[in-house]
Parts: sequence; C-alpha cells; structure tokens
Amino acid sequence: MRTRFCDMFGIEHPITLGGMQWVGRAELVAAAAESGVLGFLSALTQPSPEDLVKEIARCREMTDRPFGVNLTILPSINPPPYEEYRQAIVESGVPVVETAGANPAEHVPVFHEGGVRVLHKCTSVRHAVKAQRVGVDAVSIDGFECAGHPGEDDIPGLVLIPAAANAIDVPMIASGGFGDARGLLAALALGADGINMGTRFLCTSEAPVHERIKEQMVRASELDTELIFRPLRNTARVARNAVSRDVVRILDSGGAFEDVRELVSGARGSQVYETGDPDHGIWSAGLVLGLINDVPTVAELVDRIITEAHSILDERLNVLAN
Ligand SMILES: Cc1cc2nc3c(=O)[nH]c(=O)nc-3n(C[C@H](O)[C@H](O)[C@H](O)COP(=O)(O)O)c2cc1C
Repeated sequence: MRTRFCDMFGIEHPITLGGMQWVGRAELVAAAAESGVLGFLSALTQPSPEDLVKEIARCREMTDRPFGVNLTILPSINPPPYEEYRQAIVESGVPVVETAGANPAEHVPVFHEGGVRVLHKCTSVRHAVKAQRVGVDAVSIDGFECAGHPGEDDIPGLVLIPAAANAIDVPMIASGGFGDARGLLAALALGADGINMGTRFLCTSEAPVHERIKEQMVRASELDTELIFRPLRNTARVARNAVSRDVVRILDSGGAFEDVRELVSGARGSQVYETGDPDHGIWSAGLVLGLINDVPTVAELVDRIITEAHSILDERLNVLAN
C-alpha cells in the first residue's frame, strides 16, 4: 500500500502519528518509526529548545528510521520561543516538521534551507491551498472529527478530504476520525495519499498515558467528546468530563477566557495522563473514540490496519466489484 506520501518521506505505510502535546515523546514516536509509519515528537512538550534537542537524540537512539517533529504555533499570551524551537529542529537534522496552528509562510524557507520538509496540518480547503502556495511539501487535512483544533468551519472528512484533494497537487494525508483499515481505505478512495491519527495512537501501550485513561478511552463512545472554546472562535475537541462541561457552561453564559484559564491550563491537563484521573483537566480526544476497543502496541495496531486493509480489498471490495 505504497503511495507517493510514503516515497516522499521514506516510510513503509501511508500513516502518520500526529504531534500530541504531553504524549508525543520518544518512546511513542520511535515505536511508530519502527512500525513503518511517520511519527512526530511534540516540540512544545519539551520545556525548552535544548530539551527538544535531547529528546530528538533519545528518539534516534531507539530507531534508525525517519521521524519528525511537530511545531504547533497558537495564539498565546506568553508565546514560547518559537524561533528557537524552529532552529533546534533544523539543527537536529530531522527530515520533516509537522507545522500546525498558524500560516507556515515565514517558517517554510527556514526549514527548506535547513533541508527539512514541511508537512502542514490545516482544517480548511482555503488554508490547504494557501499552504501549497507558500511551498509546503505536503498537507495534512484535519476534519471536524479530529481531536484538538478542528477550526470553525465544521466540515467533516467525507466532504473536506475530496474537496481538498480537488484543490491541491502536493501529497495530502487525511486526518480526523481515523483508527482502522476501513478509514485508511476510505481516505485513499477520497483522494488522500494516507492518513494521520492522534486519538487512536493515544490508546496504545507505548503512549505515556496512565492505564486508567486508556481504559476510559476503550469504554468511551463517539458521543464522549466535547467542543470547548467555541464562543472564543478557538474551538478544541476534548474528552467530555467535569472540567469540559464547566468550561462550556462558563463561556456559554458570557464568561471570558480569564474565567476558564485555570480550568484549561496545560499543567492540569498533563496531570490527567500522569495520575489517571480523567476529570483532573482538559485532554484532547476525537470522535474516533467510538471505534477504539483495545490497547494494542503500536506495531500491532499498524499491522492490523494494513492486514485488514488488504483483506477488505481482496474480499469485500473485490466481491462488490465483480
Ligand atoms: C492528546 C492529543 C494531543 C494533541 N496535541 C496536538 C498538538 O500539540 N499539536 C497539534 O498540531 N495537534 C495535536 N493533536 C492533534 C493530532 O495531532 C491529530 O491532528 C488529531 O488527533 C487527528 O484526529 P484524531 O484524533 O481523530 O486521529 C493532539 C491530539 C491528541 C489526541
């Protein structure tokens, strides 16, 4: 199941592990690389650019295969030193960066001069077109189903993916709601060159997340996420819990960001993964929760997706075609 996306990034299967705050660490990303897919370390999970350099080195000790770094640029009152993180990525010699959150225009030339390919994640056709225009190498198009930031247009993948495929020529992977072989084949049929997954990889043995949270994900259904920050036009899809409900209630009744700042703090969210208390803070999860029924290793998951994709092609689709 090789696509031009595999050829561009030198990977075996057309699957990526998207950058995940607090979760995209060396163990998970190296496991993805060893399974033949492209994983992204989360740059901002590391407290400083120097720590990111060390994390990249740690990941290299665990795998010889390619992996990348995610750099998420979001509006922030105290922005992290993005340029220093960018420089750390360039100097570490990783082959690819996954940019997200903002227009990549000012970053693309710097990455390209440093020999780093840019995979830009965006949530609308117009942003995909703009990203292609400013020279990104590939696009990851994230539908309304996704964990994290789905944007404000609310267009699910079934329409967003083919619409984006019609509009751009660079390799494109589909993101948001993917977790199994059926999703992979659907994405390829819709015109994508592969899939990106976050939530599904969050529920694997190597994800640095407390077992109780993984058990909660297995129990959860597609009804168990919540959209927060809608009134602020900075929507995020997270696991529905006591905190997400409070945030929605406060903002819907006219509250401002200041009123929820403490509830949504990253420090509280990271404690969810460490303590295993799902109600401790905000943690991202997508609608694909409804398709997650176990906690496999990354290798088992990838192998299952590829094997089942082949049997769907050989059996179900073959029968339908004849
Ligand atoms: C726990 C978690 C943390 C995430 N953190 C980030 C992040 O820091 N930056 C980013 O670009 N995307 C982040 N994402 C989004 C993923 O990279 C990916 O785009 C998304 O999960 C795809 O949708 P899916 O969850 O339905 O597979 C996060 C997702 C999860 C589940």
